[in-house]
Amino acid sequence: MQTHPLDAITRRQWLGATLGAAVLPGGSALAARGDGRQAVRELRLVAAPVQHALRGPAHPPITAWAYNGSVPGPLLRARQGERLRVVLDNRLPQDTTVHWHGLRVPNAMDGVPHVTQQPVRPGDSFVYEFDLPDAGTYWYHSHFRGSEQLERGLHGALVVEEAQPLRVDREVVWVLDDWRLGPDGGISESFGSAHDMSHAGRIGNAVTLNGQRAQDLALRPGERLRVRLLNVANARIFSLGFEGHSPQVIALDGQPVTPHAPPAGRVVLGPGMRCDLLLDAIGKPGERHAVFDDFDPRRAFDLLHLRYGNEVLRAAPPPWPIALPDNTVPEPDLPQASRHVLRFTGGMMGSMHRAVLDGESLPMMSLMRRGKAWAINGVVSSGHGEGHAPAHGHADAPLLSLDRGRSYVLALDNDTRWHHPIHLHGHSFRVVRRGGRPTAHREWRDTVLLGPGEQAEIAFVADNPGDWMLHCHVLEHQDGGMMGLFRVR
Ligand code: C2O
Ligand code: CU
Repeated sequence: MQTHPLDAITRRQWLGATLGAAVLPGGSALAARGDGRQAVRELRLVAAPVQHALRGPAHPPITAWAYNGSVPGPLLRARQGERLRVVLDNRLPQDTTVHWHGLRVPNAMDGVPHVTQQPVRPGDSFVYEFDLPDAGTYWYHSHFRGSEQLERGLHGALVVEEAQPLRVDREVVWVLDDWRLGPDGGISESFGSAHDMSHAGRIGNAVTLNGQRAQDLALRPGERLRVRLLNVANARIFSLGFEGHSPQVIALDGQPVTPHAPPAGRVVLGPGMRCDLLLDAIGKPGERHAVFDDFDPRRAFDLLHLRYGNEVLRAAPPPWPIALPDNTVPEPDLPQASRHVLRFTGGMMGSMHRAVLDGESLPMMSLMRRGKAWAINGVVSSGHGEGHAPAHGHADAPLLSLDRGRSYVLALDNDTRWHHPIHLHGHSFRVVRRGGRPTAHREWRDTVLLGPGEQAEIAFVADNPGDWMLHCHVLEHQDGGMMGLFRVR
């Protein structure tokens, strides 16, 4: 294995550093209040600049932006069926909003500026309140200038526990991120780079786990863990392998899936995506096994090591069930579903020569001069929903209008040379076909990763009324126009 990306620029600074905790505190950050029927979890999220010890306490901190002073933000935990009430206080030098990624919230709570709410100005507050119908691993993040605000640290994990949580010995949450640090060690201010926008996005040079360099994970032989993985990076795709272990995938994007070994032995997470793993500690006392990332085989690196102690918990994996109970997402009626094609074009080395921006067909060179390079069905988003007020005082027209309660199949066609994690707001969908073939697990997701030239079909019931975002979660691609709205009415 090669150098850890974090070492590329700051190897010296890392040596001897005290490494941060790999496990978030399990305690609830929320106060619960019961009304006799439904419990309401309440908290305040204060978004503000913070000094963040990315390199550990022995080194100078960097200036990040954070919720409640920590990067990632506080781990929010609630129970399925509860209601969440969050007061957002904006103490940033910019407007902001919060989006609840993967949660099927009412449209007005979705946190998309100029579409579902006005941006929250510095010094102002906004109250988000919604039910939690589904258990699973979700997250929350800014949806205003996301490419800058997420990179600076405005994101956190949100865990909704099953009514009967799966039996495990221990649960850990791994928030994977990468940062682009400049020569001074702080966050590089190279936001809005045309190269990042038209290529693979802002790939960082420092990979972190829960906001710091990943720390080895101590295991007791025989122990069973639930690992909740979440990729909050702007653009980096992780492809994780677990040496000497056979983890089982039990949930994707929060939604239960038939337990299975990760295809080709790799847990692949595009930006925005989650995976719940069941990990049995099958190593022997004293052993050490790498968890590595080889998404880019030329830059493979060890993220951390699983390190076995001598205290044997049990001789063989426990016989406890590992399948999660179903959530409440409505099942699409495939024979009755209407079908729509969404074709993604643009980027470098692609075949897109022109596309429509603000009603005008423009050649690629003119689009690039306006900071754009991507289109959905030939239309480049002008940028509402990402903090730019609509140029003509109105939001983009919806790409699709869907009838409430009906089933739809969207055929997603990646006609580019790049990867795109495509995210839908307000709905979870089944991935029913990939490359023309039925998928093995018909997994529910809210973000589907399309490889270069790849096609996938997703199916869902359009049951949540409103105007919803649909965009690439490589945040620089989203800025560059790979975004649109679908209307459910
Ligand atoms: Cu995770 Cu539109 O976002
Ligand atoms: Cu993309």
